[in-house]
Amino acid sequence: METGAPTTAKPSSLRWKILRQALLRKPTDEQSAIGVKRITRKTTQGFNLIPSNLVEDHPTNLTDATACYTIPIDSAPKLYLTQRVVDRAELSDFEICNQYNIDNTGLVCQWPSEEALAYFCLRNADMFRSKSVIELGAGYGLAGLVIAAVTEASEVVISDGNPQVVDYIQRNIDANSKAFGGTRVKSMMLHWNQNEKSNISSTFDLIVASDCTFFKEFHNGLAQIVKFLLEKVRPAEAIFFSPKRGDSLDKFLEKIKESNLCFSITENYDTEIWKRHNQLMNGDGSWPSYEKDHCYPLLVRIAL
Ligand SMILES: C[S@@+](CC[C@H](N)C(=O)[O-])C[C@H]1O[C@@H](n2cnc3c(N)ncnc32)[C@H](O)[C@@H]1O
Repeated sequence: METGAPTTAKPSSLRWKILRQALLRKPTDEQSAIGVKRITRKTTQGFNLIPSNLVEDHPTNLTDATACYTIPIDSAPKLYLTQRVVDRAELSDFEICNQYNIDNTGLVCQWPSEEALAYFCLRNADMFRSKSVIELGAGYGLAGLVIAAVTEASEVVISDGNPQVVDYIQRNIDANSKAFGGTRVKSMMLHWNQNEKSNISSTFDLIVASDCTFFKEFHNGLAQIVKFLLEKVRPAEAIFFSPKRGDSLDKFLEKIKESNLCFSITENYDTEIWKRHNQLMNGDGSWPSYEKDHCYPLLVRIAL
């Protein structure tokens, strides 16, 4: 995908497009080495709220690289997240996508909304104190890891429906286990459409998610999972960060309404994120394709 945001094309056609690109492209050794330096587009296209730098600790593994995130709070631990380097899609990725009826957007990169969600959580750490939290569709799991590292949440479960993504989440949990203090942290394979809801035995006070509302085929399943989790604990709340992205957020919110859930949308929810947004709108050059509808995450709060 070339733009800074997922498109609304059908997941199956997107998968074939990416697969075709992956198969046609044969990186030379030199290109592979350069690839290690480019984990995701986030390094050049994002809000730059949580500074990160590459840690080159995979000299024999050209598929992955690790970035070190410096949480902008005094005495906060650094976090290490292993991610795919750009352009290293593999045939097995698409076999797994087909087998599990899921896309590979979680492997493509860490999307900018995830950083905004992570930043919002660290700036609002009080709301997580002693709470049990689940992140849905977490990708590499930055927000869940930040919540575990800087808030006093009792438990953080970082979930995704793509088993390969869940492997990365578990690796990232293991790599940062010393940063979590007394907070219990787990990964979970949770597909919004396929999981028997009765398999979710835990209860959660807070549900967080970023950039999970553009898959129209999963809107209903996602709304049902949110409803199921909210009904288990009262009061509970879901915090979604999502760009509007055409009509995709509105369509998801229609499903939320049909599920008899309430929601509110806030555009300006953090002074720093709003400042970065305005700088990007004024063309500061750090994210050339930036435009509000596809890139700026709105804060959506959902409750019973
Ligand atoms: C656009 S990515 C966002 C990832 C991460 N939150 C971020 O912003 O970087 C969407 C994530 O949702 C996951 N996902 C997509 N469809 C899903 C489904 N039906 N059930 C569970 N997870 C799903 C993908 O595997 C992917 O990790």
